[in-house]
Amino acid sequence: MPLKDKVLAVLEENKGKSVSGSNIARSVGMTRSAVWKAVKTLREEGYSICAVTNRGYCLSEESDFLSEQSIVPNLKTKALGRKIDVFKTIDSTNNFAKSLAQLGAVHGTTVISEVQTQGKGRMGRDFYSPMGMGVYMSVIIRPKLSVEHSLLITSCAAVAVAEAVERVAEIDCKIKWVNDIYAGGKKLCGILTEASVDVEQGGLEYAIVGMGINVQNVTFPKNLADTATSVRLETDKPVSRSVLTAEILNCLEERLETIRDKSFLDEYRRRSNVIGERIEVTHNDVSEQMDCTGIDEIGRLLVRLDSGEEKALTSGTVRIVDSEKQENQD
Ligand code: BTN
Repeated sequence: MPLKDKVLAVLEENKGKSVSGSNIARSVGMTRSAVWKAVKTLREEGYSICAVTNRGYCLSEESDFLSEQSIVPNLKTKALGRKIDVFKTIDSTNNFAKSLAQLGAVHGTTVISEVQTQGKGRMGRDFYSPMGMGVYMSVIIRPKLSVEHSLLITSCAAVAVAEAVERVAEIDCKIKWVNDIYAGGKKLCGILTEASVDVEQGGLEYAIVGMGINVQNVTFPKNLADTATSVRLETDKPVSRSVLTAEILNCLEERLETIRDKSFLDEYRRRSNVIGERIEVTHNDVSEQMDCTGIDEIGRLLVRLDSGEEKALTSGTVRIVDSEKQENQD
C-alpha cells in the first residue's frame, strides 16, 4: 500500500479527531517528515486535513471522499467489498467489473467510482453520475443460480439498498419493480444487473450488480428534476457516502445468503409500491395499462390485463397510473 494510503487509513479511522504526527509515524512505520509529505499529497487531492500545534492532524468530519480506507473499516462482510477498487473517474463501474469478472475476479469484488462518464441505466439509458454526489458501485457475484432465477438478484439487491439507506439515513424506501428505489415518491437509486451464462453448466457464471444511489445531490438537471431525489434531499441527517457504501455491501451479503430460500421476497413485496396498483407497462415501445396483483417466487411481476388474462412479466418499465403518483416517475 502506498505510504499516503497508510496515513489516510489512520486519519479515516480517527475521522474528526486529532492524531499526532509521531503516533501516525509509529503506526505506519515511517518518519514524521514522510507523514507530513503524505498529508500534503492528500490535501492536494482535496482532503480537508487540519494541523493543530501539539495535537497533530485531523481529517475533517465532513470529508466525504470514497476510498478503500474509508469504506473497509465499516464492512462486516466475508466477501463483498474485501477486494475493492475505488476510482476517481471511470466510464462505467459495470463495464470495468465485467472485464474483471472475465479475468476471473473473485466473488464479492467491488468497483466504485467518484464519477462515471458513461454511467449505464436499464434499456440502454444513461445513468446520471456526477462527481462526488453518489455511490456508483458494481459488485461481482458468483451465485449458484439458474438463469431463470437471475431476476432474483436484482430484487435481492433492491431490498439490500432499501434497508441500508433506511439504516444509515432513516429514510422510508419503497421499491418500484424491478430495480428502482423510491423515497418521497421520487427515484433515489437504480440497479442494473448484467449476467453471464455458463453455457456448459447451464447456470450463471457471474453477475454484475450495478447500483447507483443519489446521495449528496441538491439539484438535478431539468430532465430529472421532477423525478429524481437524493438522500440529502430526503433527510436532514448528514450522511457519509463511505458509511452508506459499506452498509449496502453488508446488507447485500446478508440478503444474498437467502437468495435460494427466497425469504427476502417478503420484504421486497412489503416495500413494493406497485402491488395492488393500476399500472402502465412499457415493453419494446408498446405501453399497456393493467392491474398489478403481486410478485411471484422468481421475482416476476404478476398482472391482470383488462381482458382478464393473468400474466407474469420478466421485463418492462412500470409506471403507476394514479394522478397523484404519476408525476414523479421516470
Ligand atoms: C437504472 O436506473 O436504469 C439502473 C441504473 C444503474 C446505475 C449503476 S451506477 C453503477 C453501475 N454502473 C453503471 O454504468 N450502471 C450501474
